Amino acid sequence: MEFRCLAVDRDGQRPLTESWTGDTLVVGLFAGGGSGDGRGLVEELVGEALEGWLQRRRFEAKSGQTITLERPGGTPATLILVGLGDPAEFGLDALRQAGAGAARTAASAGAEELGLWFPLEGLEPAAAAAAMAEAVRLGLYDDQRFKSEAEPRSLPARVTVLGLGEAAAARLAHVAATCSGVELARRLVAAPPNKATPQSLADEAAAIAATFGLELKVLERADCEALGMGAYLGVAQGSDLPPKFIHLTIRPTGEVSRRVVLVGKGLTFDSGGYNLKTAGSQIEMMKYDMGGSAAVLGAARAIAEIRPAGLEVHVIVASCENMISGGAIHPGDVLTASNGKTIEINNTDAEGRLTLADALVYACGLEPDAIVDLATLTGACVIALGEEIAGLWSPSDGLAEALIAAGTAGGEALWRMPLRGSYKKGLKSHVADMKNTGPRPGGSITAALFLQDFVTRGLPWAHLDIAGTVWSDKARGLDPAGATGFGVRTLVAWLVAGAAA
Ligand code: BES
Ligand code: MN
Ligand code: ZN
Repeated sequence: MEFRCLAVDRDGQRPLTESWTGDTLVVGLFAGGGSGDGRGLVEELVGEALEGWLQRRRFEAKSGQTITLERPGGTPATLILVGLGDPAEFGLDALRQAGAGAARTAASAGAEELGLWFPLEGLEPAAAAAAMAEAVRLGLYDDQRFKSEAEPRSLPARVTVLGLGEAAAARLAHVAATCSGVELARRLVAAPPNKATPQSLADEAAAIAATFGLELKVLERADCEALGMGAYLGVAQGSDLPPKFIHLTIRPTGEVSRRVVLVGKGLTFDSGGYNLKTAGSQIEMMKYDMGGSAAVLGAARAIAEIRPAGLEVHVIVASCENMISGGAIHPGDVLTASNGKTIEINNTDAEGRLTLADALVYACGLEPDAIVDLATLTGACVIALGEEIAGLWSPSDGLAEALIAAGTAGGEALWRMPLRGSYKKGLKSHVADMKNTGPRPGGSITAALFLQDFVTRGLPWAHLDIAGTVWSDKARGLDPAGATGFGVRTLVAWLVAGAAA
């Protein structure tokens, strides 16, 4: 799919088809006959006043509403009207939703050369073009790897954003890289746990490294033992699959001005261990417990292609499975992490934080300017924020604000949650330095407080709990049903903005 921008006469002085002659045209209309939308253009194409025409078809331009008009032999041959709802609520997010919905309708109508005409007044042109292109590509994502017979589908070959000049196309190159990263993350998350293993994550990192000329280190169990990573290895010891500690490095071509570490939780399956997950705890979905690692690998793929000047990025994944066997950790075991802290395991199902503890200690050793971890860490976060918003914890106001802004720019919602120090008493242990699990109330907060103990004081660090957002049972906006690839767009927007600053 190729994207471009085309400046066209938006006042209807000259017919659109003088400059654009694709087969499928999408036009956005506001509810209540708002001004600045595509009304004039549609009137020109249907050849009559729009009010009556729309009324007969019961089209009120509510957001999400679409109507398809076939015009055999005409240019365009297919006209798709998309409702944009209340103009007062229209912005980049509504544009993304409308763009993704329109793209799906257009693709099923067989569009080859697709034009998008949306009201863009008040929106920053480059951001609007990028948002639309992302929405189209990500909205059309379809994964049939695990079907024996794939359903044939066709995608538009070319998508033109109408009404924006060449200058607005500036970020379209980033769009392709970012979407490839999101798609990689979606594929990794959707892959079942017999396919996506610690080894296959390491292979994926190796493939990215080979494609983009990056450095890759994969630490084996013995290497991690030598580093004293008892917390991570404790989780890994119940599995027949060997753990893989992945460290991928992207270096800029010139001098380094900023070094960042991304850490992703990489549990390729979380059975809960001896605190076994029971029916209703979504054990059959725990393939997505490597969603954090998928996000950081997806971001690495995108950033390796974009290569923002001066930016050095390290991607760390302490990957393993949480399983049951005669060698698995017992509830009650005490483990020692690589910073020397001892941890009483009062619940083997709070395993993500144990793997992240050693990954964070390793990350701090790289002496970065910032660390961001992403993890499907707690069911409590899903209860608190639902499926559309990820939780964000950070002692650094600057980092928290930058990430939230990047999320907004990328179309992903983050909500800052408190690192309330007094809740740390919930992690007090009588036998070790701390327990791995606090009480149920505030469970996502104690999880974040646990992680904070493994981060060097004063080093800007943020933790994103993406347990709710990695997966969507139903298609929603530009997320198809299934893996969302959540986190990639935020990370890429944050890294690109930080490099430019
Ligand atoms: N991977 C889960 C968290 C999770 C749960 C993600 C549901 C997505 C959906 C994590 O390892 C876990 O099991 N957390 C426990 C922690 C508890 C034992 C303190 C949880 O949330 O129940
Ligand atoms: Mn668990
Ligand atoms: Zn888990």
